[in-house]
Order: sequence, then structure tokens, then C-alpha cells
Amino acid sequence: MRVLITGGGGFLGSHLSDAFIARGDEVYVLDTGSIIKVRHLLDSPGFHYVHDSIFNLELLDGLVAKADLIYHLAAVVGVEHYVADPYQTLNVNVNGTQNVLKAAYKYNKRVVFGSTSEVYGRNPKVPWSEHDDRVLGATSVDRWCYSTSKAVGEHFCFAYHKMGLPVVVLRFFNVYGPRLDRLDVGRVFTIFMGQLLRGADITVVGDGSQTRCFTYVTDAVKGMVQAGLKQEAVGEAINIGTEVETSILEFARLMIKLYGASKSKIKLVSQEEIYGSSYEDIPRRVPDTTKMRTLLGVTPKVSLEDGLRLTIDWFESEQQKG
Ligand SMILES: NC(=O)c1ccc[n+]([C@@H]2O[C@H](COP(=O)([O-])OP(=O)(O)OC[C@H]3O[C@@H](n4cnc5c(N)ncnc54)[C@H](O)[C@@H]3O)[C@@H](O)[C@H]2O)c1
Repeated sequence: MRVLITGGGGFLGSHLSDAFIARGDEVYVLDTGSIIKVRHLLDSPGFHYVHDSIFNLELLDGLVAKADLIYHLAAVVGVEHYVADPYQTLNVNVNGTQNVLKAAYKYNKRVVFGSTSEVYGRNPKVPWSEHDDRVLGATSVDRWCYSTSKAVGEHFCFAYHKMGLPVVVLRFFNVYGPRLDRLDVGRVFTIFMGQLLRGADITVVGDGSQTRCFTYVTDAVKGMVQAGLKQEAVGEAINIGTEVETSILEFARLMIKLYGASKSKIKLVSQEEIYGSSYEDIPRRVPDTTKMRTLLGVTPKVSLEDGLRLTIDWFESEQQKG
């Protein structure tokens, strides 16, 4: 099978590429970013890296035409980006997604779309099942543009599905693992990891009582692969995550414990100090994973402690390589 992964040079895409290459499939990655997360695959005969954008329509058309299955993961991701550059976030996540769906519709190719737990916004009723409401703030607050951009992407997916396109929407819940982001930027793990390695204090935003359900990447990738293969998944939105809720304070303490010889202590910092006044944190974010288990046949297996140990070890060894 020939699999096209837009954004395949990113964190999830690189692990998904590993999974399809291990199955003996052919993988085409289309990504504007660096090859660093897939450099170990560059010598695999079935792996192809196309350094270009989903806005190059002619190229996209050619790649979609020869693919059997498409994962659309290309997006502007990360709080720092959607607060700093809402235009780019909306443009790539909405107009770019439309480009991919339009090409897939032309050739009738299945698309698995990478959406997010952010679409539920701050709905206080957890756990969230896929039909639960989206509860968001005002459009004048940039922080909501990522959630909205992904929800528009989902609406386009369902609109194309109504016209006959096989589409699956996956909503990821805080997936982490080796190759996540650069140290000190991006998501909570890499920010804490950078601080741990430097012996700096771990900056927990707010009082640290906000919770997340952290999902180790191999568990998420199992769900992603099945979403591309299983007929029952077509036309569905499916949460990809664990139901194990961990507060950010507990997460920071666990990282300090597992890292061992750290001088780092926990320091509480205000939300405004880190993200400015246009940010608003979500107090609890918990998926109902029934559909993941029943439609995809995947139950997450890796505990937070085991997953964190593997991820911390990977980042430490990368740092030692320099
Ligand atoms: N990792 C998570 O926990 C998580 C959570 C929610 C949603 N998601 C979604 O899953 C997908 C993958 O996330 P990730 O964690 O791997 O993020 P990532 O930032 O590592 O990957 C996104 C990739 O998209 C690429 N990209 C951006 N603009 C592009 C363009 N115009 N053309 C081609 N490529 C472009 C980037 O270079 C990057 O490599 C994203 O769509 C994201 O919104 C991930």
C-alpha cells in the first residue's frame, strides 16, 4: 500500500511513518519542515520525503493520485504559534485542509484527518464523548483559533463524507514520546524536559491542578493505523487517548522523580506571564475512549510512568549526542 502523510516530518507523522514502513508499505511524506525526525528512515527504500507544502496544488494532486491512503497531519500546532500567529494557524489548518480534501475527493482516496481534543474547548462535562458540545470563548481571543480551525477542518471532512469521500477524524489527547518537539518549546513535556536538563526550575502554569490525559505515542499510532484500515471507522470522529487523568503538578513531580539527579524544583507561574492575556487554560481534558476501543480495537497499554521513562531517556541520549 502507498500511504501519503502530510506533515509526516512532524512528531506523530514520523512515528506513523515508522509503523507503515515496518508493515512493508510505501510512505510519501509531504512536509515543509526539517527531515530531522525522519532521518532514520531516509535509507529505507519505501520511504520518500517531499519537502514542500500542501499549498503546492499541482504537487499535492500528483501525490494524492498515486496514494492508496492519506493521513492529513500538516498543521500549525502549539500554543506559542496560535497565540502569536493566528492568521497562519487559520490559513494552514483551514485552507490547507481544504486543499487536501479537494484532491482526495477528485481521486476518491480515504483521508484520516488529525484533529484535536481542543475542539471540545472548555466544556466542563468530562469525559468527552465524540458527540459532546464544543464550548469556546470569544473570537476576539486568539487562543480559540486553533480549536476553531480544526473544527472547521472536521466540518469539511464530514461535508465531503456526505458527498461520498471515505473520511476518518481522529481527536488526539496530549500525545507524547521521543521526537516530540525541540527542548524548551512546544508542549508541556518538552518545556519541562529542557528545564530538567538545565537544572532550572520547572515552571508549572497556574496552580498545576489542571489535568491532561497523556497518551504514549505508540498507543496513539496503533489507533491511527487502524483508522486507515478499518471500514467501521469511516465517517466517524474518534478520540485517541487514555482516560487516566493527571494534573500538571503531578506530571512535573513524576518527571523530576524519573529524571533522578535533578536540581530542579517546582515553580508556579501565572498564565499571563507565560502566554500573555489572550490565553485561557482548560481545567480538565478527558476523553471517552469507547469508540477507540470498539471501532478501532485499540486500548492504550503504556502507563504514564513507563512512557515518561522512555521519553526522558530518549531526550537525554539525544542531548549527549550533542
Ligand atoms: N501530538 C499531539 O498530542 C496532538 C494533539 C492534538 C492534535 N494533534 C494534531 O496531529 C497532527 C500532528 O501533530 P504533531 O504533534 O505531529 O505536530 P508537529 O508540529 O510535529 O507536526 C505538524 C507538521 O506539519 C508540517 N506543516 C506545517 N505546515 C505545513 C504545510 N503548509 N505543508 C506541509 N506540511 C506542513 C510541520 O512542518 C510539521 O512537521 C496535527 O494536525 C495536530 O494538530 C496532535
